[in-house]
Amino acid sequence: MRTPIIAGNWKMNNTNAAAEQLINELKPLVADAKAEVVICVPYTAIATAARLTKGSNIKVGAENVSWADKGAFTGEISAEMLKEVGAEYVIIGHSERRQMFGETDETVNKRTVQALKNGLKPIVCVGETLQERESDRTKDVVKTQTAGAFAGMQAADLDNVVIAYEPVWAIGTGKTATAEQANETIAYIRSVVADLFGKTAADKLRIQYGGSMNPQNAAALMAQPDIDGGLIGGASLKAVDFSKVVKY
Ligand code: 13P
Repeated sequence: MRTPIIAGNWKMNNTNAAAEQLINELKPLVADAKAEVVICVPYTAIATAARLTKGSNIKVGAENVSWADKGAFTGEISAEMLKEVGAEYVIIGHSERRQMFGETDETVNKRTVQALKNGLKPIVCVGETLQERESDRTKDVVKTQTAGAFAGMQAADLDNVVIAYEPVWAIGTGKTATAEQANETIAYIRSVVADLFGKTAADKLRIQYGGSMNPQNAAALMAQPDIDGGLIGGASLKAVDFSKVVKY
C-alpha cells in the first residue's frame, strides 16, 4: 500500500552540462519504473532538471531549503524559489549538513515546517554515527531526531513527508547496513511515529534506507517489509546504476 520511492541525492555533483547528459541517459532507462523516481540535485541544476524531466516520470528535488520566507539570509534559498524553478521534493537534515554545516534537530524542524507550508515534500534524514551505534544508542538517536524533526506537527502533515534512515557509517563508505539491520531501525522509527502521531499516520509514512545502496544490494533491502525506498548517493550519479536501483 506504500508506493516505493527511490530518490537520488546528487550532493555537490554535476554542472548543468553534466546534469543534462545524465538525465537524458536516465529518462528512457526508468520510463517503465514501478517505484516513484526522484532526483535531488544542486540548486543550480534544478531548473535544468525540471525542464528535461517535464512529461516524464522523474520528479525533481532540492537538497536543502531555508526556514525563512525571504530577506536577509545571505546564501540561503527559499521554498518559493525552489517551487518556482520546479522542485517538488526537498532533502532536509542530511547527515552531511548536520556534521559540517551546523544543522540541528531544531533547524531541521523549522525547515520541514517551512517546506510543508509551501507545498514542498520533505525527505527528512535521520541516522546514527558509528560511535553511537557501537555505544548502543541507535534507537535513542533516531527517536530524538524523529521527534525533533516533526515537533509541533499534526498527523496530517506527515501525508507529504518521507523519512530517510541513513546510518552515517554507511554513507559513501561501501558499508551497507544489512537488510535486517536497516529494517529493524526503520521499523523502530515507524513505531516512534506511531507513538507521536498514531498508527494510521505511521502505516502510511514512507521510510527510505540510505547508505551505499547500489544495484547489488537494492533488491535485498527493498524486500524488507518496512523499507519503502532508497536515498541513493554515489550510485545516483551513474544512469545505469541508478536505473538498476530504481528497478530493483
Ligand atoms: P551513498 O549512496 O553514496 O552512500 O550516499 C548515501 C546518501 O548520503 C544519500 O543521501
